[in-house]
Amino acid sequence: MTQDLEKLFTYYREGDNQFKIAGGVEGCYKLANDFYDIMETLPEARKILFMHPNDLSESRDKLACFLSGYMNGPELFEEKYGPVALGAAHAHLPISGKEKDMWLLCMEKALEKQDWPEEFKAFMLMRLNTPASRIQNRP
Ligand code: HEM
Repeated sequence: MTQDLEKLFTYYREGDNQFKIAGGVEGCYKLANDFYDIMETLPEARKILFMHPNDLSESRDKLACFLSGYMNGPELFEEKYGPVALGAAHAHLPISGKEKDMWLLCMEKALEKQDWPEEFKAFMLMRLNTPASRIQNRP
């Protein structure tokens, strides 16, 4: 990573800069909604779409609320749904490297749709690799 990029990523990590750059609560909802719109239409993501309930409204809301806290904004998930337990929330789902990649592909495409600086989108995708790898529960 270049020094400039490293500096930028350090800036993103300070306070609630991520949340602000992402456009606050509205930005979190836009990303989550774009993410699930893409999952609903992308043939490569059918397998993980079918793991979800038919009605995606709660999944959309939960992801948006999670993202708010994840970007150091208000802890909306905790406020609405209780403690975040991503491992437990996905434990009943068979998630291998393939399903993880499907999820990240949907996220990459959703990030492309945001009116955010390119470096910030790359930063978010890089960050989201970590929880996605933790959620993977089989090879
Ligand atoms: C690695 C691939 C992933 C797959 C296949 C996947 C799939 C799913 C599915 C099917 C649900 C709905 C569960 C249900 O209602 O029974 C869910 C819930 C959720 N997912 Fe994922 N997910 C993945 C990764 C992630 C990541 C990386 C994040 C966050 C960065 C995330 C955040 C959430 C949240 C916040 C919920 C709601 C949890 C709850 O109900 O308490 N997921 N996911």
